[in-house]
Amino acid sequence: MPRTDLMQLFSTRTRPLNVCAPMVRYSKLPFRELVRRYNTDIVYTPMILANVFSASNFARDCEFSTNRQDDPVVIQFAASNGVDLANAAELAAPFVSGIDINCGCPQKWAIHEKLGSHLMSDPETVRDMIRMTKARVNVPCSIKIRIHKDLRETEEFVKRALSVGVDFITVHGRTKKMKSTEPVSLEGMKFVKEVSTVPVLANGDVFTMEDANRIVAATGVDGTMSARGILENPALYAGYEITPWECIEDYVDLALSYGTNAFIFHHHLMYMFERTMSNAERRTFNSLSSVPSIVDYLEENYGLDISKKRGERAIRASVL
Ligand SMILES: Cc1cc2nc3c(=O)[nH]c(=O)nc-3n(C[C@H](O)[C@H](O)[C@H](O)COP(=O)(O)O)c2cc1C
Repeated sequence: MPRTDLMQLFSTRTRPLNVCAPMVRYSKLPFRELVRRYNTDIVYTPMILANVFSASNFARDCEFSTNRQDDPVVIQFAASNGVDLANAAELAAPFVSGIDINCGCPQKWAIHEKLGSHLMSDPETVRDMIRMTKARVNVPCSIKIRIHKDLRETEEFVKRALSVGVDFITVHGRTKKMKSTEPVSLEGMKFVKEVSTVPVLANGDVFTMEDANRIVAATGVDGTMSARGILENPALYAGYEITPWECIEDYVDLALSYGTNAFIFHHHLMYMFERTMSNAERRTFNSLSSVPSIVDYLEENYGLDISKKRGERAIRASVL
């Protein structure tokens, strides 16, 4: 199945690219299809442990499901060495447009396993991972990094990655110690763009299209990537300030069609309703614990009409 060529997407773009971040638990198939309907150009899978992915068919089925419409998709792996990464990349490559290496996860377990943001202090390992992966697969290999307190270290890191042909870079404009409540460093993201010879995406604090435009103007990057913003408002890259009801209906339809776990379904909806539900409504909504009870609630209180969405989707599928 031919997949979108990401490097061509970068080189022919007529505006900054809109990208949905990797998000553990959330950036799964229904959500990826949802955000594509709202002007998102590239969508990432959640971080997947490379060694677990390579271990069995069962693990792969649990971690990654995809289909023809799931394009372009970048699969993100967490690994501590090139062998694990290249093995996983080879299995995933026929189904994706890119392989990304997570160099930003700040969680203690990840650092203990020598992956995620631990890699920001181990540029040689990252260089070897890129080299080994590129030798085995034919799709772009990217890194999602954080910045260092001393940007000279970031420059060294980026140069090592460039020396082995990293195809593009996403920079989350925070150091590994910074909290997500602290503003991102525009200066750090601009710096990474300036020292790179490949496309760069800026990640952090994109909650509206205005934020995306401001960040691009300040840094010169090739596109922006949103995580918390797009989780709360999957239509943000289509210019919506608040999640439109249409988008919530689309999500319910997609989640039910593909199958979903009640916990994730509930959480996605809680995020999407974050700015529109009253406290009283939220109290009731939060107490719902099964998919049917959530659907009933939305039908009774918001006029959810899944049959209408099903009809629209059937028409879309017949056009494809
Ligand atoms: C729920 C959630 C899950 C995340 N999972 C991942 C992940 O799997 N891989 C990754 O590189 N970053 C992950 N992140 C970090 C985001 O991709 C992003 O770098 C960070 O949230 C900053 O972007 P933001 O300001 O747009 O939220 C996650 C963030 C959130 C909120």
